Amino acid sequence: MERYLNTPIKEIITSFPEVGKILEEYSIGCVPCTLGSCLLKDIVAIHNLAEDKELELMYRIEKTIYPERDIKKPVFKASKKEPDKEIRYSPPMKRLVDEHTLIKKWIGRIPQVIENVDIESESGSQLILDGLDFIRFYADKFHHAKEEDILFDYTDKNLDIIRTILADHEAARGHVKEMLKAIGEKDTNAIIGHLCAYKDLLTEHIKKEDEILYPWIDRGLSTTQVGELFAKFNEAEEKMDKGVIEKCQKFIAEAEQRIENFHRS
Ligand SMILES: [Fe+2]
Ligand SMILES: [Fe+2]
Repeated sequence: MERYLNTPIKEIITSFPEVGKILEEYSIGCVPCTLGSCLLKDIVAIHNLAEDKELELMYRIEKTIYPERDIKKPVFKASKKEPDKEIRYSPPMKRLVDEHTLIKKWIGRIPQVIENVDIESESGSQLILDGLDFIRFYADKFHHAKEEDILFDYTDKNLDIIRTILADHEAARGHVKEMLKAIGEKDTNAIIGHLCAYKDLLTEHIKKEDEILYPWIDRGLSTTQVGELFAKFNEAEEKMDKGVIEKCQKFIAEAEQRIENFHRS
């Protein structure tokens, strides 16, 4: 089993697809991950499962890989206390989670935008352009930059989980670039395709950060580091153009109405 603990998860899932299904039962979504180079042992450690759940998961994976082996099933005493499912973030991490809430509001509107996309009309193309500005300035320059330039300095950037997150950011930038090109060429199909891909990518990405990455980083931070992170976030925000950030927040507040009006006209 030692060998498999040090094997990239995609290799294990390719050889034993059942392992992917088992991981999903424990809310460990390795199957859709684009990189899949995380080692099995790191995945188990990062997800911080309750001790009994982790032993049960490892037992099931080992049994799937070595069905002929006589592996002792772990036995647990039933716990009277329900595990605490609520994630408590440190103040700087909570700020990033709150920023995700705003980004998710735009992601949630994308299906309506796609339904009504009209790149030929002025209001139609403006809505797409404003949505792209929100992604570029708020989701990327304001939010992703804080993660990349500050938060990830508190981690080992060579870890697969960080490489996966950085690859997601790059993929998101790729969709933005392609959408800008598609707007210029008035290519409605390409706009829809990249909007959909961005929505799917960011939905998974935010889930990974909220549920796995941020709690994992938080667990490793000392109180001094939490304070330092908070101060660095403040400093970074001070340097940003407040007018642009306010415009992005206003865009989200007005997006629903704009899509509605667009739908009616
Ligand atoms: Fe991110
Ligand atoms: Fe994020």
